[in-house]
Amino acid sequence: MPSYRQVFKNNQIWLDKKKETDPDFFEKLARDQRPEYLYIGCSDSRVTAEEIMGAEPGEVFIHRNVANLVNATDLNVMAVINYAVRHLNVKHIVVCGHYNCGGVKAAMQPKDLGILNPWLRNIRDVYRLHMAELNAIENEHEKYNRLVELNVQEQCVNVIKLASVQQEYILHKFPIVHGWVFDIKTGKIIDLKLDFPKILKDIQQIYDLTGTVKRNQ
Ligand code: CO
Repeated sequence: MPSYRQVFKNNQIWLDKKKETDPDFFEKLARDQRPEYLYIGCSDSRVTAEEIMGAEPGEVFIHRNVANLVNATDLNVMAVINYAVRHLNVKHIVVCGHYNCGGVKAAMQPKDLGILNPWLRNIRDVYRLHMAELNAIENEHEKYNRLVELNVQEQCVNVIKLASVQQEYILHKFPIVHGWVFDIKTGKIIDLKLDFPKILKDIQQIYDLTGTVKRNQ
């Protein structure tokens, strides 16, 4: 990491380069944002949203927190999703977890982690939902990797539980929800290709918030 002062020198080099390729770059950037993607990822410093996706400023609306959780009582993530869906009309919502996630690992330790307890309990709940599958995995490392994937799956389901997402989808056939895992060791983004009709088959009716939209159509 460069020194504190170097950060500002780097910034100047970066903006000069941007202007070199497109003199109006920042003028256009200042006008508006029309990102097609909402990215919900982990705060982990090794998993940078735009860089791994090859995205430019203005292309991805981003929310990051410890272990990429989508919790209905977290006003922050709820506001981000609502704004992205209702106002920016994003086409895709990505929940991106990553292997070697410290948050997921910490969640499974029998330890008091203070303020992290209620936050990470969401991951223990994911474990409980998928206990049979996870307990059958003997290799600890593989078990954590699978928990990372299942956590992404459950956070995607939490996104789909939201009224804004359900209602916009009925009206426009988007946003589409995607579950990804970033493999830190290889740099690859793995699309979990989650089969939501199958995952939601028995529970969809419980979380259905689309009645009024369907009636008004
Ligand atoms: Co993490």
